[in-house]
Amino acid sequence: MSALLEVNGVTKRFGGLQAVSDVSFSIGEGEILGLIGPNGAGKTTLFNVVNGVYKPDKGTINFAGKDITKHPPNEVVHLGLARTHQIVKPLQDMTVLENVTVGACFGRDYLPLRQARKVALEVLERVGLAPRADTLARSLTIAGKKRLEVARALAARPKLLLLDEVLAGLNPTEVSYMIGIVRDIRDSGTSVFMIEHLMQAIMSLSNRIVVLSNGQKLAEGCPEEVARDPQVIEAYLGDPDIAEKLGARN
Ligand SMILES: Nc1ncnc2c1ncn2[C@@H]1O[C@H](COP(=O)(O)OP(=O)(O)OP(=O)(O)O)[C@@H](O)[C@H]1O
Ligand SMILES: [Mg+2]
Repeated sequence: MSALLEVNGVTKRFGGLQAVSDVSFSIGEGEILGLIGPNGAGKTTLFNVVNGVYKPDKGTINFAGKDITKHPPNEVVHLGLARTHQIVKPLQDMTVLENVTVGACFGRDYLPLRQARKVALEVLERVGLAPRADTLARSLTIAGKKRLEVARALAARPKLLLLDEVLAGLNPTEVSYMIGIVRDIRDSGTSVFMIEHLMQAIMSLSNRIVVLSNGQKLAEGCPEEVARDPQVIEAYLGDPDIAEKLGARN
């Protein structure tokens, strides 16, 4: 498995706070890499550094053989790296189809409108939103908005898709549906890097898992290894949401 993404010694500070400290890992083609860690561990910040929202204070990021460390998100998406946002912000007064068409227009290729619309329709089928194509984004439920967020990113036709808590706020039926979507994305050849608090889901989906705590990489390995790592268990015991997380494992 050749590395698609290589993150080498990345550090990101906000004033005196070191949100991400000297983190290194790689993602192979066709792989799902899970990213877990307590609230405030630096997971979203790491995504923001990888896709160019922030420049790291130290370290480098290589994607598909290119150094993308200083590339802004619009260039990174053009190279085939797309992401979803933890707090979904669809263009509320546009329809579902229009939102996803925008994603296709400004994706890996700058597609003309007609072609972008075609890609958007295909993606909406894949995430089960085709029947809602003409619905205004604002009237979707949270589950619908999460799927729209995935569809918008998928319409960019990424080689690597970053998913930031796409299962948060979903009921068990919706969670199962979204897990199916993520598997389908991986099976269709797109690598996935996903942040998730829902342990059962991330453990079953990921080929490997990276654990962050206080900005540092605490552990990395296959799900079984990581789940029984004493340092990982300790990091989670220090987290106030532990009851919820352990509950999700049962
Ligand atoms: N733009 C910013 N300016 C200042 N501090 C920030 C900024 N973004 C994040 N932080 C801080 O960096 C730390 C890591 O935040 P981050 O959002 O990356 O955590 P997270 O692991 O995604 O947490 P959660 O699981 O709650 O989403 C936190 O202490 C947060 O308050
Ligand atoms: Mg986050």
